[in-house]
Amino acid sequence: MSLLEKSEIIKKEFETDRAKAVSDAKPEAVEALRVSYLGRKGKVTALMEDLRNVSKEDRPAAGKAVNLIRQFIEGSIDELKSQARSWELAAIINREPLDVTLPVDEQKQVGSLHPVSIVRQQLIKVFRSLGFTVVDGPEIDFDFFNFSALNIPDHHPARDMQDTFYVDAPEKMLLRTHTSNIQIHTMLNERPPLRVIAPGRVFRCDNDMTHTPMFHQIEGFVVDENITFAHLKGTIDTFLKAIFGSTLKTRFRPSFFPFVEPGAEFDVECGVCKGKGCRTCKDTGWIEIGGCGMIHPNVFEAVGYDSSRYSGFAFGFGMDRIAMNRFALPDLRQLFEGDYEFLGHFPVHSN
Ligand code: DAH
Repeated sequence: MSLLEKSEIIKKEFETDRAKAVSDAKPEAVEALRVSYLGRKGKVTALMEDLRNVSKEDRPAAGKAVNLIRQFIEGSIDELKSQARSWELAAIINREPLDVTLPVDEQKQVGSLHPVSIVRQQLIKVFRSLGFTVVDGPEIDFDFFNFSALNIPDHHPARDMQDTFYVDAPEKMLLRTHTSNIQIHTMLNERPPLRVIAPGRVFRCDNDMTHTPMFHQIEGFVVDENITFAHLKGTIDTFLKAIFGSTLKTRFRPSFFPFVEPGAEFDVECGVCKGKGCRTCKDTGWIEIGGCGMIHPNVFEAVGYDSSRYSGFAFGFGMDRIAMNRFALPDLRQLFEGDYEFLGHFPVHSN
């Protein structure tokens, strides 16, 4: 077979092999094709070597034919190589359906914080600066933590103060009616000295302009040796001034909660009328914030603390009321309707 005939056959073979590589659509197939024709032991390389055996007079024509084939094959392979890049890209896109290189639409609306989150973050910041740590507790709890251990035994009239959602469970379980359950969990898990706050959701069967079945409270308590009512007053006064402004007055009124003795409620001067009396404060000049007191010895007994050695204070209040006050909201329910229009008005950062 003459070299010219051989060249023709190799060209035909190459065309078949090229079609196969194209249908494979893989860069490796292109490289294999290159090696089998242009590589050291490739078919074109062999042809070039065969040229040496061709007679002097036939050599120029044969050389020209072989060169043409070589150029054709080299050109074809270069073309395939650049196609291979787009095959590679297509393979990546198939593997990763998410195109991270696609530019996103310009975001005109950025998120904002919920008013209750703003208040919670601010409270946490203030109490952290006073050395308190933040803990969490269960929203569905046993009666023991929510009531009995807090000196509210079965049939105690105080249970009627908080309309409880009970959960169908073999043991007596409920949705916590206040964050005070965290006092019991924490005191059982840890030992004094304790300086703790616990923000969280609470639930009561109640629904009107100023009550929702779910709302937010924050509980705080301190247990150590020699804790007195003066520590309680100092702490409450400091945080009220940090939240409402240092020029507003604060006050304590005697009150009753089964888990404290003595117990009190604390108020802050109405920021709208500066204590003169207006609609917001119902002409009293004061806004009620929450309850507090010295932890009752029966609570210490329930968690196995020696009440002759340790004393402590506790307080609790609603964060939603503070948000209403801060942002002058007329209806508590607005906070929980999930209305974007309304929620979008609050700042993104709490301070
Ligand atoms: N748990 C009470 C409530 O939900 C609030 C409260 C009052 C908490 C006095 C306390 C406290 O820790 O000492 O109404």
